[in-house]
Amino acid sequence: METKISILFSTPNLCTLLILVFFSFAASPSHASLSFNFYATSCPAAEFIVSNTVRSASSNDPTIPGKLLRLLFHDCFVEGCDASVLLKGNGTERSDPANTSLGGFSVIDSAKRVLEIFCPGTVSCADIIALAARDAVAVAGGPAFQIPTGRRDGRISNAANVRPNIVDTSFTMDEMIKLFNSKDLSLDDLVTLSGAHTIGLAHCSAFSDRFQRDSKGKLTLIDTTLDSTYAEELMKKCPAGASTSNTVSNDPETSFAFDNQYYSNLVAHKGLFQSDSVLLEDGRTRKQVEAFANDQQIFFRSWGESFLKLTIIGVKTDAEGEIRQSCSFANN
Ligand code: HEM
Repeated sequence: METKISILFSTPNLCTLLILVFFSFAASPSHASLSFNFYATSCPAAEFIVSNTVRSASSNDPTIPGKLLRLLFHDCFVEGCDASVLLKGNGTERSDPANTSLGGFSVIDSAKRVLEIFCPGTVSCADIIALAARDAVAVAGGPAFQIPTGRRDGRISNAANVRPNIVDTSFTMDEMIKLFNSKDLSLDDLVTLSGAHTIGLAHCSAFSDRFQRDSKGKLTLIDTTLDSTYAEELMKKCPAGASTSNTVSNDPETSFAFDNQYYSNLVAHKGLFQSDSVLLEDGRTRKQVEAFANDQQIFFRSWGESFLKLTIIGVKTDAEGEIRQSCSFANN
């Protein structure tokens, strides 16, 4: 299965890719139940209900798409895309400090509530997260495409599994590559999926170690790859002693638009996290960053392929896992 996927994702045409992935899933016993339109007969309105919920929540609160997209990333990298990130309780993934700034839970819960009315016990929370993230990108102006469904919900959620599986902003390129590879994601996928930082917010603590003020109040760059004017702006928004709840936009130019501005920011040395800036600094990824900055369509095409790979990490299907009644708790 791993080999099949890596061959498939070198295909440049997304339509061809989706058709191939469909047949690949259908032929693979381990993913026999993951397919496009999985709910066509059991819950025909499933995808509509999710997208409607995402649209309406996002129209009230433009920060929702970013939250939903990050939620998927943190779900899939820990225990696979199985909604383990949603489970409440002592010692679950959700309780880990690396996950305390996650959001969008109420949107997933709203969609689930409606789905339980129309199709009780049918649509998994894992599928809702994946569909909601896919729709969040489209709502924010990014590409829209089909993804396979049929994921089942996991019963295991352990905070101790979070840190070893989630990338920290202090990671070197080699560390990021290693972690992504362990999820069957390539260097190209790393550059592409980091483009998620074209939307959303970040707390000051995620980047404020990149600069400091000296005793005379003058800016000192700790990370000299950062543009000093941008660092000044960030420092104003994150003054020493600022509330831990202070946030800035990941992409200050087009904060809520899913576009290729993230890559133009990188080229201008305005990547917010050290892990963003390194994509420009490292010779292995610079060309791809520049290509995405120059052509949004190239980024969007690549996004469809890499996003699909993200949504199938470690999925549970068939007899594995369960369909939760409530997304926050495993069934009794
Ligand atoms: C490559 C390594 C990555 C690192 C080190 C990283 C790190 C971070 C950090 C520190 C934040 C700010 C969180 C906060 O302060 O509240 C953030 C935000 C975000 N990340 Fe990442 N991330 C990475 C990759 C990804 C990927 C692959 C995705 C999705 C495909 C993603 C989607 C997002 C989104 C959408 C936000 C904004 C969240 C919001 O608005 O609430 N990130 N990321």
